[in-house]
Amino acid sequence: MQKALSDYLQEKIQLVESNLPTSLEQAGVPDKLFESMSYSLLAGGKRLRPILVLATLEALNQPIERGLPYALALEMIHTYSLVHDDLPAMDDDDLRRGKPTNHKVYGEATAILAGDALLTRAFSYIAEAYMQHPEVEAATTVKLIAELGRRAGARGMVGGQMADIEGEGQALSLDQLEYIHLHKTGDLLVAALRGGGYLAEADERQLEALTRYGVCIGLAFQIQDDILNVEGDAVLLGKAVGSDANRNKATYPALLGMNASRDKLHSLVAEAKQALESIDIHESMLHALADYVIERLH
Ligand code: IPE
Ligand code: IPE
Ligand code: MG
Ligand code: MG
Repeated sequence: MQKALSDYLQEKIQLVESNLPTSLEQAGVPDKLFESMSYSLLAGGKRLRPILVLATLEALNQPIERGLPYALALEMIHTYSLVHDDLPAMDDDDLRRGKPTNHKVYGEATAILAGDALLTRAFSYIAEAYMQHPEVEAATTVKLIAELGRRAGARGMVGGQMADIEGEGQALSLDQLEYIHLHKTGDLLVAALRGGGYLAEADERQLEALTRYGVCIGLAFQIQDDILNVEGDAVLLGKAVGSDANRNKATYPALLGMNASRDKLHSLVAEAKQALESIDIHESMLHALADYVIERLH
């Protein structure tokens, strides 16, 4: 990885992780629930979605601080999606972010509730935190909440997860597979880009280009996740490999083969960068992050 990018990622991870602990409320929360929420939220991970929010603000020459509440809320929703994704009724995984999965430690009922609580906290946190940010208009906060609700919900991430589960063991078309990937994974990345755009008061043309960038790297991110599930290193990944094939999941390598999947990655990254250029964003961290999405080993 380029030095500049790895330093950037480290710096932003530190910013996100130093603010995450206080984003959860503890008073009045049952101890076990709070522990279970904190266990997964503070377990590490790449923090890519929050970083994309901050990088979008930077690319549009805006201060990143105002992106922090939205970035943290997005990470709460992403973390909830992982906790539920790992449940026995879903992918039934034992390892996540290098640690036993939430339900392995706290039991299924608590893991379900911790996911529910992270999801709802994301929305109350955005509303509460932006009341302390007078530079962010209330109308912008409403747009952020609408964006996140839509991208995380039944037409977004949850819809993608439904299609992923229904697709197990089925011979899917490329369109069906693309639907799964665009929604289960792409939508939260798009939410990062568009949220950053709203906070920077981007115009419609800029929002559209940011959306196109998000769609492209979202799809690429999930194709790389599929590839790493075949040929990645479980220790580096902090999660199991080979599990997609075991569960008969629809994936790009299974449907197209490795070479065509890799070609697809490169064309998606090129298209993502074109989208940036189309709104005069040149040589930003968003460019480097697009490369990172397909070069990453974990
Ligand atoms: C894993 O996401 C689930 C997918 C959507 C592919 P990440 O690979 O971003 O997981 P963390 O946050 O780094 O653990
Ligand atoms: C996860 O997809 C997508 C969400 C959690 C929304 P996968 O099930 O393919 O991701 P991993 O490989 O378990 O991280
Ligand atoms: Mg899954
Ligand atoms: Mg999974």
